[in-house]
Amino acid sequence: MLRRTASLSPSIGKCSPLSPAGKAPTLSCLSSGSCSQERKATCAPNPCKHRHPFDLHHIGPSHDPSALDISQDDAAIRITNLNKWYGDFHVLRGIDLTVRQGERIVIAGPSGSGKSTLIRCINRLETHQKGQIVVDGIELTSDVKNIGKVRSEVGMCFQHFNLFPHMSILENCILAPMSVRGHSRKEAEEIALHFLEKVKIADQATKYPGQLSGGQQQRVAIARSLCMKPRAMLFDEPTSALDPETIKEVLDTMIALAEDGMTMICVTHEMGFARQVADRVIFMDKGVIVEENAPEAFFARPQHERTKLFLSQIFGH
Ligand SMILES: Nc1ncnc2c1ncn2[C@@H]1O[C@H](COP(=O)(O)OP(=O)(O)OP(=O)(O)O)[C@@H](O)[C@H]1O
Ligand SMILES: [Mg+2]
Repeated sequence: MLRRTASLSPSIGKCSPLSPAGKAPTLSCLSSGSCSQERKATCAPNPCKHRHPFDLHHIGPSHDPSALDISQDDAAIRITNLNKWYGDFHVLRGIDLTVRQGERIVIAGPSGSGKSTLIRCINRLETHQKGQIVVDGIELTSDVKNIGKVRSEVGMCFQHFNLFPHMSILENCILAPMSVRGHSRKEAEEIALHFLEKVKIADQATKYPGQLSGGQQQRVAIARSLCMKPRAMLFDEPTSALDPETIKEVLDTMIALAEDGMTMICVTHEMGFARQVADRVIFMDKGVIVEENAPEAFFARPQHERTKLFLSQIFGH
């Protein structure tokens, strides 16, 4: 079981469960539990050994570090030979990645290496041209029904938060649980307040996003994702724009999610978080996975020169 230590390095990220590139959230995206362009992934119900305060509805499977070689059926997310182009630019070049249920993956790599593009493909925020992405047994194609299913199970937390500015914090959090999950207002408010409490922002529930700091809004964004009880969460540099104190709060939130067994893919340069939480660290460069390993080996014995260079830059050697 993960320890909840606090010695996490200061970061480079920032959070928000929302849409890409600052786009406003849309109702069609609410199915993800977070906002606009978020979606959700997968995880099977597994018995957790203990209930964590985040675990209002027993969010995900417990993490079993010994279960490293799981059958194909246990894959929460399976990516095979994924290729994507932006026009002539070949941004993802033959990505193979299988994420087991309850597994925590950290993706690191230099700017422009394709990290965001990769996790955005998992929610079909970006379309791929070649290869296969299967989330919880559902292949992502142009089939909108399947896209909707996947998005209803995969939460996302992006660099840029996209709360609905004209809605209170509470309203932001109850919208998807009511419209997508079919909860009554009372149930949705209970769920929302539970998760807002967990991210230490419940006292701001009646305020509007514009009345909160960036860090507070980002915590709301996480809470909003959690209100959909996602089976998996995708994070794209969720702490990159936060001050150090807020970074720790957000990372603690993510650590707690990990302790609950949430399947997580997290793009981050928070190497302390990676060491503490990740089952695997994946290093990307120029659209390919250069190297992947368990955190200890990844940091202690990087195999590729590009990885060594990246780590030396991160750690300032
Ligand atoms: N919509 C787009 N159209 C064209 N090119 C794009 C688009 N989005 C991203 N790119 C390019 O694709 C490459 C990968 O971008 P991506 O955002 O995935 O990188 P990243 O690894 O997340 O980088 P960063 O660490 O800076 O966030 C970059 O060269 C980027 O300029
Ligand atoms: Mg990025």
